[in-house]
Amino acid sequence: MALTLTTTIDPDIRKAHTLPSSYYSDPEIFSEIKLGFRKFWHFAAHKDQLNGNSAIELEHLEKLIDEPMVMTDDGEIRCISNVCTHRGMLVVDGHCSKNTLQCPYHGRTFGLDGSMRAMPEFEGVEGFPTGKDDLRIFPILNWNGLIFSGIEPSGLETSLEEMERRVGWMPIETFEYDATRNRSYDINANWALYVDNYLEGFHIPFVHKGLNRALDYDDYRTELFEGGVLQIGIASEGEPIFNIPEGSPDFGLRVSAYYYWIFPGLMLNFYPWGLSVNLVVPLSVDSTRIIYRGFVWDRKMLGKGAGGDLDKVESEDQEIVEATHRGVSSTSYNRGRYSPTKESGVHHFHRVLTKHF
Ligand code: FES
Ligand SMILES: [Fe+2]
Repeated sequence: MALTLTTTIDPDIRKAHTLPSSYYSDPEIFSEIKLGFRKFWHFAAHKDQLNGNSAIELEHLEKLIDEPMVMTDDGEIRCISNVCTHRGMLVVDGHCSKNTLQCPYHGRTFGLDGSMRAMPEFEGVEGFPTGKDDLRIFPILNWNGLIFSGIEPSGLETSLEEMERRVGWMPIETFEYDATRNRSYDINANWALYVDNYLEGFHIPFVHKGLNRALDYDDYRTELFEGGVLQIGIASEGEPIFNIPEGSPDFGLRVSAYYYWIFPGLMLNFYPWGLSVNLVVPLSVDSTRIIYRGFVWDRKMLGKGAGGDLDKVESEDQEIVEATHRGVSSTSYNRGRYSPTKESGVHHFHRVLTKHF
């Protein structure tokens, strides 16, 4: 990869300087990074999103890695190409509940396993069909019903082991997809600024007055692992908490939220009501789509505590991130410094990013 810039972030946070502003504002660096996303695993869907469908289009993956894909289920879950092997039309638009997929252009039909089944007006075509006429199958990982896919992905195993150890006791596979919790926001800021903001609780007392009342700010925790960060929100008195089983490393702690970030742009936020997935999808150097998906565990807990009013917290964050984008794009800013006690997550992200790019 021909990099326009190589930067190292000092491993000692007390000596380190933050990411150079070109990472947020230079279109060439942006393109390099975006292309590199093809090497990573990305969240495709929770299996409950299939709910009544045999195939769903994974539009966010197309935006992330320029690869149109569908997730199909015929008893086995697969992520397959959504690109017809005849002349390249997209096969599934949105979702489908049939047991075959038919291309709307000239009627080529595929099984849910991607195999080419039928094609009109192809009598006499030599050497047809072959395996090349089947829809391509992409690798998947299934962790407790959360399905990940990618083009040539690697490197998610440590994050999944970490989450299994910590929150694997939750019945994540049975969480119910709740489409009323879907959100999609396009913001005028670089994707990495959105990740930076997510990775510290430092701004909570300044930016999120409501959330600050639900959390014990002094006890907010940040842990680093290969390819990700976990932040743990500890509840204020009287706020809802997880009923953590004995045997969990957090047994006895008053946890109100587990905030996982996984490189590059996946956020898995576990609350006593369930899971809120945020997908950070870079659209251009200065615009980013933030997609929310919600999976409910305990309906009675909705609307309460740290995971209560997510729309308000989101709009407070977006305002900050958009203004910061204007700041880092100016000639007056290049690099800053980190708070050793409050910004270890941001430092870790910058280290991971500059290691890959
Ligand atoms: S492009 Fe799909 S049948 Fe022709
Ligand atoms: Fe925030």
